[in-house]
Amino acid sequence: MEQLKIISAMKYVPERVVTNDELATMMDTNDEWIFSRTGIHRRHVVTDENTSDLAIMVAKRLLEQTHIAAESLDFIIVGTMSPDTLSPSVAARVQGAIGATNAFATDLNAACTGLVYSMSFASALLATRYQRGMVIGAEVLSKLLDWQDRTVSVLFGDGAAGVIVERTTEAIGYLGESLRTYGAQGDALTAGAFANTNLTGEITPADPYFHMDGRAVYNFATREVPVVLNEAMEQSGVTADEVDLFLLHQANSRIIDSIAKRMKQPIEKFPMNMVEYGNTSAASIGLLLAELWEAGRIQPGMKIAIAGFGGGLTAGASVLQF
Ligand code: ACO
Repeated sequence: MEQLKIISAMKYVPERVVTNDELATMMDTNDEWIFSRTGIHRRHVVTDENTSDLAIMVAKRLLEQTHIAAESLDFIIVGTMSPDTLSPSVAARVQGAIGATNAFATDLNAACTGLVYSMSFASALLATRYQRGMVIGAEVLSKLLDWQDRTVSVLFGDGAAGVIVERTTEAIGYLGESLRTYGAQGDALTAGAFANTNLTGEITPADPYFHMDGRAVYNFATREVPVVLNEAMEQSGVTADEVDLFLLHQANSRIIDSIAKRMKQPIEKFPMNMVEYGNTSAASIGLLLAELWEAGRIQPGMKIAIAGFGGGLTAGASVLQF
């Protein structure tokens, strides 16, 4: 049976670093409050780049590193909740910039579960008739932040990361998944409302900013991520003990600690990097995978579970055999 093989994982983050101490000069907060509740010390924030700039850097790095020709890509999927524009999509901008003339390109918005959903779509595309694609998670969340609102602006950061995936007949790949959406709970995390003017002149004003019921999202994540992880592992025929690494969406170290306990798995199997990047939504799992890839920590034969949760509300997990 055709399967999905990850050929390379790369990342790109903007240069500008904003520390918790710098945030404390802008609002009533402090490093101790932020770090003890989230595990975040710093985040990277754009100065003059937009989401597609970050995604294009990742795409170029992937092509350079693998020596793969852009024309050989069949598809490009970008997971994002912070596109430059609704049209063209970030993925179309990437396709144009790298000259992937044979690829179709589309964005996928599942907020912080964006990369997990995107990998599922990529795996389905490769199982049908496509040979090779690029999956990128890219976010400039800083444009969705009210820098006066300390309850959300301290949590998020900007960044992008992605993979090249290919069809293979090797006994590796995408073993199983569980994707879920809880639309009835969507108000717990909102962002990016457009102004809505209709013919009768009634207007809903624009509100780009994140609004979040932090406790509700926290409880949702600690409750639902173990559920989707267990479902994905069951579908894969893999036990938690057989999973080498759990790469979870990097929103909050306390959420990951709690999930590790619920899964009865050692915290060492849950690498984290939110200390450096904050919550980068659809980019976070890719940022973690790319760092581990670059450090040579992803070895053939490893089984890796990825899991995301966030706006929608959404949750999803899958198990990959390397
Ligand atoms: N600095 C200092 N104090 C603050 C800050 C801040 N940045 N933010 C809030 N506070 C204050 C609050 O005003 C409150 O004060 P009060 O008790 O006087 O009213 C106090 O700190 C406690 O606030 P809580 O909101 O109860 O703090 P909590 O311990 O719940 O932590 C947090 C908040 C970190 C947001 C937590 O709820 C959380 O991590 N939730 C999950 C959020 C998440 O991961 N969201 C991402 C989803 S992914 C996506 O799709 C984008």
